[in-house]
Amino acid sequence: MNELADLIPTARRVVDELLALQPEERVALITDAGTPPQLTGALAGCVSAAGGEYVVLEMPTRGLLRNNELPAMIERALEEADCLLGLTRTSGAPTYAATTKRLLDAGSLRAISMVMRPLEIFTGGGALADYAELRAEGERLGDIWRRGRTMRITTPAGTDLVAEVSGEDVVIECGYADRPGMEAAFSDGEVSSRPHEGTARGTLVVDGPVAHVGTAAEPLRFTVENGVVTGFEGGGPQGRAMRHILDTVPHVTNIAEFGIGLNGACRRNGLFEEEKKARGNVHVALGDNIFYGGTVASPMHIDMVLYNPTVELDGITLVRDGVVELEPAEAARA
Ligand SMILES: [Fe+2]
Repeated sequence: MNELADLIPTARRVVDELLALQPEERVALITDAGTPPQLTGALAGCVSAAGGEYVVLEMPTRGLLRNNELPAMIERALEEADCLLGLTRTSGAPTYAATTKRLLDAGSLRAISMVMRPLEIFTGGGALADYAELRAEGERLGDIWRRGRTMRITTPAGTDLVAEVSGEDVVIECGYADRPGMEAAFSDGEVSSRPHEGTARGTLVVDGPVAHVGTAAEPLRFTVENGVVTGFEGGGPQGRAMRHILDTVPHVTNIAEFGIGLNGACRRNGLFEEEKKARGNVHVALGDNIFYGGTVASPMHIDMVLYNPTVELDGITLVRDGVVELEPAEAARA
């Protein structure tokens, strides 16, 4: 399993359907030393088969303090690319670098983020969803979200977090990046937005997997005031790792993103990139919010998954105890 041949159906789906690659388009595959070579090979082969041209750009592995930083040489190369496939394993730099955001906003690039994912993400679970259906659902949730102002997230583990959001910041990531300026992930299925800077407040208790840290045996507990983490409790190695990040990484205390997962095919397998897309899970991210249209630059963007959440937007329930309630929310908004 997970040999090159097993990855071909996924690579075809990404290149032909989700990216809708056209002949002679130029694709940058950004990798690092942790990228499985068979993934790069499968995608490169499909780009060639579609008549496109690819380059593989391998960047260094990145530690905590430069996690969102692309080498300048790669940034220059992206100026000449139509499409970006981010395949790095140790960092999310292809996705979260400010240059990527600038080129997406300029409409010269479209991108699919496959960063920080082991091979099993690409051959099962959320990778096998009906992406046309997911896109339609993402648009519906996005339509509701765009008209909201105040989002509240509560969970049985003890989260009660409130923040102001606004319509222009809603990001729909449901696999497709088939038009210039679009960005998606793979596997995928979420709608998200940055809370307005300085507005998030309350308590955040993380009981699911956390990017760069893993899943803690005991939930990680954050106190949030004026948009930033002001208190933290968490034991074990994951708690210590999070404490170290909070103490050392600039601006990582910023509450950067609220996201709602929509992909019903995602597994609960302990991998944050799979679980954050799982239907009815919520993720809250710390740190950098440039990708989400904000102004806080941090070396890290740390997604953290919450289980069985209830999400309300201006008092209208979008998710109740981990179940997405699109139709009732649409009726309430109408
Ligand atoms: Fe997200």
